[in-house]
Amino acid sequence: MISLYVPRLFLPAAGEFPASRGIDPGKHIRGIGIERMAIPDAHEDAATMAAMSLLKLRERNDLLPGEVERIYVGTESGVDEAKAMGTYIIGMLEKVFGRGSFQGCSTVELKSACIGATLALENLCCWAAQDEERTGIVVATDIARYPLRSPGEYTGGAGSISLLVKANPRLVALEDVWGAFTRDEDDFFRPLGQSTAVVNGKHSNLCYLKAMETAFASYRKRMLKQGVLSPGKGECLTDYISHLLFHIPYPRMVEYASAAVFRKDWTGLPRWMEIEKEIGAEPNPRDFDDEEGYQAEASKYEKSFSRTEMFQEAYQAKARDSTLISRQVGNIYTGSLYLGLASLMEKRRLDEGERLCFGSYGSGCSAMVFSGIVQQRDYSAGSIREQLEKRREISLQEYEALHQGEGEVSILAPAEEFALVGVDGRGYRHYEYIS
Ligand code: HMG
Repeated sequence: MISLYVPRLFLPAAGEFPASRGIDPGKHIRGIGIERMAIPDAHEDAATMAAMSLLKLRERNDLLPGEVERIYVGTESGVDEAKAMGTYIIGMLEKVFGRGSFQGCSTVELKSACIGATLALENLCCWAAQDEERTGIVVATDIARYPLRSPGEYTGGAGSISLLVKANPRLVALEDVWGAFTRDEDDFFRPLGQSTAVVNGKHSNLCYLKAMETAFASYRKRMLKQGVLSPGKGECLTDYISHLLFHIPYPRMVEYASAAVFRKDWTGLPRWMEIEKEIGAEPNPRDFDDEEGYQAEASKYEKSFSRTEMFQEAYQAKARDSTLISRQVGNIYTGSLYLGLASLMEKRRLDEGERLCFGSYGSGCSAMVFSGIVQQRDYSAGSIREQLEKRREISLQEYEALHQGEGEVSILAPAEEFALVGVDGRGYRHYEYIS
């Protein structure tokens, strides 16, 4: 099961924001796919958002505090260099459920850029598989914030997702086949003490695509080797996948990632001959004197492929709907992949027995591809639409003040939520539940 928390403030992608940056709003809305960016209020941080999504998960599943034995937190927005964020989160939950109510629970914080929650999930799944009685929770929580007026600024966002992990899940049963890729890259990083990331935007897109494509190839190899799937003549793995979900730094990236995966999966099949008839053969690196010349042709070819009818049909049928919520929220870093799952639930696009393929990416950079089977039709991700509709629009001035940490007073006074009420002289953070 899954729950989502999104801050109650948002900045629209159209209006004074693009005007002040000299950007055509069409670029945000159509080119990048963002309509609204979720912005945390002055009393919120990654820990309060995590406690909120956990609270929702608990309510929706009638979990008793003592039942939860593991809370693994995936985040790159840590609030302390040593103390695990999960201890602050448990402290907040105990303000509601009573001191000591979560003391039997272990917690760890996993940082690996946007792939942290997936690594937490892989670990918790192994732990939960040992005993049907075990209950663990993965919490993904992040604030995606880029420097003001930088090219990545409009791909910010904030939010938290909680995932309930059990040996017999009600929503998706993972197949335990994992394709992986890791390489040292300087695409995106946040040196110690900095509140915004250092980003090499175009390079980050290329790293993402290369990592995803290679992790998918590794996943495909393992699926075939382990005999989980044996596609017939003229078939390929994606024919057996109902929905492809990818990490969503911005919705348009899902289209680029789908193109990379379908292109590799279809190469060599009879259907690929039809593609070649339409757009010609792929450029061959051996025909170029330098890497730059080859890359330029390769990216032109990718664009032509992504405009073919065959690709557009597959993309619309198997990937596009996963971007529904991200358009309204922006990047939530390590939870973004699972926002895709919540989007499919919200659109009621999941059917029992369907295979979902997940492509997780974290800058730096790593990718993991894995899959799972939908367990039931009767699901709900909670009142997501209501949460999104109830939000308050903020002005550019309010956004910039919050971004720079100058907004000391909350724009919306905290109500029925956890709030950071102060940081004492030693740096210890104090949280309360405000009813
Ligand atoms: P950019 O230079 O602002 O955008 O960079 P662009 O010029 O490449 O334009 C993007 C698209 O908008 C293009 O579409 C344009 O044509 C179109 P395409 O040609 O590809 O089809 N466009 C328009 N469309 C309609 N009307 C218009 C218009 N103008 C242009 N008027 C970039 C974009 C993503 C690089 C930048 O926003 C950035 O640096 N973002 C932050 C980094 C990022 O998100 N990278 C993604 C991969 S890395 C990742 O996913 C990891 C991450 O989540 C962090 C982690 O792991 O922790 C970020």
